[in-house]
Amino acid sequence: MNLDEILLAFDRDLESITSDDELQNLRNNYLGKSGHLTTIMRVMRDLDPKERPIFGQKVNAAKQKIEQALGSMREKLEARKIERALKGTKSIDLSTPLREETGSLHPITIIEQKIIEIFKSMGFSIEDGNEVETEYNNFEAVNVPKDHPARDMQDTFFLDNGELLKTHTSASQNRIMRKYGAPCKVIFPGRCFRNEDVDASHDNTFFQVEGMMINENVSISNLIYFMKEMLSKVFGKDVDVRLRPGFFPFVEPGFELDCKCPYCDGKGCNVCKSTGWIELCPCGMIHPKVLEMGGIDTEKYQGFAFGLGLSRLVMMVYDIDDIRKLNSSDLKILKDFKIK
Ligand code: DAH
Repeated sequence: MNLDEILLAFDRDLESITSDDELQNLRNNYLGKSGHLTTIMRVMRDLDPKERPIFGQKVNAAKQKIEQALGSMREKLEARKIERALKGTKSIDLSTPLREETGSLHPITIIEQKIIEIFKSMGFSIEDGNEVETEYNNFEAVNVPKDHPARDMQDTFFLDNGELLKTHTSASQNRIMRKYGAPCKVIFPGRCFRNEDVDASHDNTFFQVEGMMINENVSISNLIYFMKEMLSKVFGKDVDVRLRPGFFPFVEPGFELDCKCPYCDGKGCNVCKSTGWIELCPCGMIHPKVLEMGGIDTEKYQGFAFGLGLSRLVMMVYDIDDIRKLNSSDLKILKDFKIK
């Protein structure tokens, strides 16, 4: 075969190629060691020396042409492979919004973390309380006498071993006082349980954040300062607070701390039930008996304590009308939380 015949034969062979292997064979047949182009180069020796460079150029040009054609055939084969792979799969619309379900933090977690950050920034330590407690820690150690109605079987989930599910975060006060001693500034968020009839505003499981500050010369004004700071940071604006007298066996004096409704600035709205104030946080000066039981020297130290109703606060911030939704595993409800 002369050079033109070789090129014609190559074009013909190329048309029938359908796989990578066939393409490789074709390359070997033309450009390989004993391929047509390599063989024809040997003819050069027999040529007139003047014709040799012209012939050499022609062979090189033919080589290039073949290389190019092999290259584009390789691309074509690749494209055909992809086409075959996609056949049978649905076409992909890249502009379709992602429908994959993603998780989100629960509103209780979001507000709890926020409160933790706020108190940390004010120098408080954070502690975890137990969920299963002794009767002593839950009641005696916080000065709740044996005949107090809160101890009733109706209110408390007692366990067979005589322990109980803690009914309030105050149950951790004694253990934390013993751990830290005085002075101390600690908050301890936790889940509490009460054997209650369940309705839109009562659940048998709910969350509180307890706080305690013990030092020399601690007074009610310290308590008011920290509560005001915390609530202002939670609501992102200055909020007023007020104290009303309240009775709790573990504090003396005890108070109900209300905050001026941050949604209507005290004018009256649905959230504050037209009163302008929201009852949020029972608190008071820790009863000396409670301090003593915690091993604190009452000659030297005083302290305040508060028990913030985290579940109630979350309901207010997220506009949740039924406390039972907070413990629900209903995805429709949980998705609703995510939007807000
Ligand atoms: N432990 C109380 C309860 O759950 C709330 C409480 C009231 C906590 C006054 C306190 C406090 O620390 O000082 O009803």
